Order: sequence, then structure tokens, then C-alpha cells
Amino acid sequence: MIPLVLPSGLLVRRAGPADAAALRSLVTRSDVMSRYSRFHGAVSRLPSSYLHLLVDRPASEHDALVVEVEGQLVAFGDLGPVPGEEGVVEVGILVESPYRRQGVARLLLDELATRADVRGMRVLRAVVLHEHVPEVKPLLGDRPVLRSWTDQTAHGFDLALRPL
Ligand SMILES: CC(C)(COP(=O)(O)OP(=O)(O)OC[C@H]1O[C@@H](n2cnc3c(N)ncnc32)[C@H](O)[C@@H]1OP(=O)(O)O)[C@@H](O)C(=O)NCCC(=O)NCCS
Repeated sequence: MIPLVLPSGLLVRRAGPADAAALRSLVTRSDVMSRYSRFHGAVSRLPSSYLHLLVDRPASEHDALVVEVEGQLVAFGDLGPVPGEEGVVEVGILVESPYRRQGVARLLLDELATRADVRGMRVLRAVVLHEHVPEVKPLLGDRPVLRSWTDQTAHGFDLALRPL
């Protein structure tokens, strides 16, 4: 349940319009590989169309959470609708390097998935670059895999948001 303060002092809360500059800064100061694995391309700045989705939409349209410490954003995660596929939401997560391996991504994903389930969504989609499947797959938990596929660069997983 958010807002939530973790024992480490990190605050997990919903993103809002006031977070735009801090989200831009988080992406810009992330290393090249992190940006590449999050956006599947050579992205140096958070695209403004995507930033608007993160900060300006109600959760019912595009749900985004941020993680804050001492006034700075160190992670974000979002679940956005997949156009033309009703009930399907796709996840994106970025955690700044010093805050990794503390369960932040898993917590963001679990919270976003719970919220999506409550909104009546059925399928959680994750599209992961092949080389990052070993580290990202555990994040997806034991949700039933409904479908999985691969293309040249990535592996896609459609997972049930609730037990079958
Ligand atoms: C992938 C990413 C989101 C993981 O964030 P995180 O907060 O470190 O993840 P968690 O601490 O919740 O990890 C949960 C589990 O995932 C697995 N995992 C996460 N990072 C891993 C790594 N680098 N190597 C191996 N396993 C990893 C582990 O099983 C881990 O559990 P454990 O720490 O108990 O072993 C983060 O590394 C990141 O932002 N990477 C760049 C962007 C990206 O790849 N986003 C995902 C695609 S949208």
C-alpha cells in the first residue's frame, strides 16, 4: 500500500506533475547500459511524450510510482496500457545503481501489479532484452506465464495478474 516508507528510508509513492524534472534527471544521470536496457535503444533523455504519461495521467490510465530519498528520485516503475489489447499492461522499471539489489524493483512491480489487478487488468507484459532475462525474470515472480515469445533483441512474457 503506498505511500510507503521502507526500513531503509526510501519513500515509495505515486508519480505526479512535480516529479517531471527529477525523473528527467534520474534518466539522464543513469549509465548508458541502464538506459539501453530500460528503453531498448540509445536514449539519453526521457522522451517527453513518455514523461507526460508518467506524471500527468491518472493511475486508471497509466500508473507510475517513484522512489524518493532525501528529496531525490532514485527509481521509478510504471504500468501502461498496451494499445489495442484490452486488459494488458506493460511494465517498465529503472532503479539507480546504488539502490539496486535491495528489493526496490520487486516491490514496485508487486505494487503496480496489485493495483492493476484491482483496476480489472488481466495480463502483465514484460519485454526484456535477451541479455537481461536472467536478472529480470526473477522479478516477475511465480505469476503464471500465459505466453512468451522472442524477437531479435528481446524476450516477451505475458503473465497472469492473478492465479489462474
Ligand atoms: C533490473 C532492475 C530494475 C532490478 O532492480 P533491483 O531493484 O536491483 O531489483 P531487486 O532488488 O528487486 O531484485 C529482485 C531479484 O531480481 C534478480 N536480480 C535483480 N538484479 C539482478 C542482477 N543484476 N543479477 C542477477 N539477478 C538480479 C534477483 O533474483 C533479485 O533477488 P535477490 O537480490 O534476492 O537475489 C535494475 O537493475 C535496473 O534498473 N536495470 C536497468 C533498467 C532495466 O533493465 N529495467 C528492466 C526492464 S524494463
